[in-house]
Amino acid sequence: ATTPIAATPPMGWNSWNFFAAKVSDADVRAAADALVSSGMRDAGYVYVNIDDGWQGQRDVGGAIHPNARFPDMKALADYVHAKGLKLGIYTSPGSKTCAGYTGSLGHEAQDARTYAAWGVDYLKYDLCSYIEDVMQAQAPHDPDQQMRLMIGAYRTMHDALRAAGRPIVFSLCQYGWDAAWEWAGSPEIGGNLWRTTGDITPEWDRIYAIASQQAGLSSYAGPGHWNDPDMLEVGNGKLTAEENRAHFSWWAMLAAPLLAGNDLAHMPRNVKAVLTNRAVIAIDQDPLGRQATRAYAEGETEVWTRPLQGGALAIAIFNVGSDRHAGTHPFHLDLARLGLHGPQHGTDLWSGHELTLDANMPIALRHHDVLLVRVGKPH
Ligand code: GLA
Repeated sequence: ATTPIAATPPMGWNSWNFFAAKVSDADVRAAADALVSSGMRDAGYVYVNIDDGWQGQRDVGGAIHPNARFPDMKALADYVHAKGLKLGIYTSPGSKTCAGYTGSLGHEAQDARTYAAWGVDYLKYDLCSYIEDVMQAQAPHDPDQQMRLMIGAYRTMHDALRAAGRPIVFSLCQYGWDAAWEWAGSPEIGGNLWRTTGDITPEWDRIYAIASQQAGLSSYAGPGHWNDPDMLEVGNGKLTAEENRAHFSWWAMLAAPLLAGNDLAHMPRNVKAVLTNRAVIAIDQDPLGRQATRAYAEGETEVWTRPLQGGALAIAIFNVGSDRHAGTHPFHLDLARLGLHGPQHGTDLWSGHELTLDANMPIALRHHDVLLVRVGKPH
């Protein structure tokens, strides 16, 4: 039997957050090389996803061709596959993508066949100009009809991918519109993941805002269908070591797709150490597929919990404060509010040390840092 696609949240790399629309074949090959040499592939990062910016023009037969930065897409797919990796690509149901490249409007089935022929394993389908081209054009004063049209666009591509006959992860990008979690994972739409918010940026305030918006969505996630709080910014911008760690921990708690968005070929060791922390990855990839919920917030501290296979539990405590000189000290974890009774023995997944969580133990977290603990069998 073959493993169903996206049985656990997809892991890999995506070009957008670092390379944006200037991405090239060489950048993608370098990322694939780095996934292998860094140990990331062996830690589970297998998708190499080209985002917006690869598209050229259609030929007289309507087939899409890549632009000059991507001389041969089939050869690129072969290169990626030869390394034990998978290739992802990006398009829009509109006439144009968000960065103004050729979209799939009117060519959905043809494009799906082209991707399958190239050997594509993952498709991110980004609404973009479909909003003007179809939703606003056909239903200018009817938001409900606009939403039906939007859902219809995803159904059309889902059908096209099935007809193309290759297993392809289907990633919906509609910026959280119309509570995608309520419909995107249905069999007719077949979404393996769907965006829950607008775009991420490499800033703590944005990362925290997105994480906060995931509270309440946990019941929609599960094997094969995941909430997508957007791709990782670990290693991008001016995020501190604590912020990189907290961001990665949060996405793991959320059973989020782990798509690194940094320049893997020039990655500092501390960034690599975050992205390859196997104990944290194991939280994200836990086979139960239960997304974390926020247990409680107190002052500038938030406590999230995630049930794991075998009765284990992940507990994440975040210092989300705005004052960079203020730690959480002396925060005392209220175990009863997590449904736990008495001290809990577990492992600190960033230090690797064993510890006992106890209501009397003051927890001191630096600005925007996290304590992520795995408790074997809580009581
Ligand atoms: C939108 C998406 C981003 C990225 C860009 C590409 O903004 O939300 O993730 O794909 O388009 O243009």
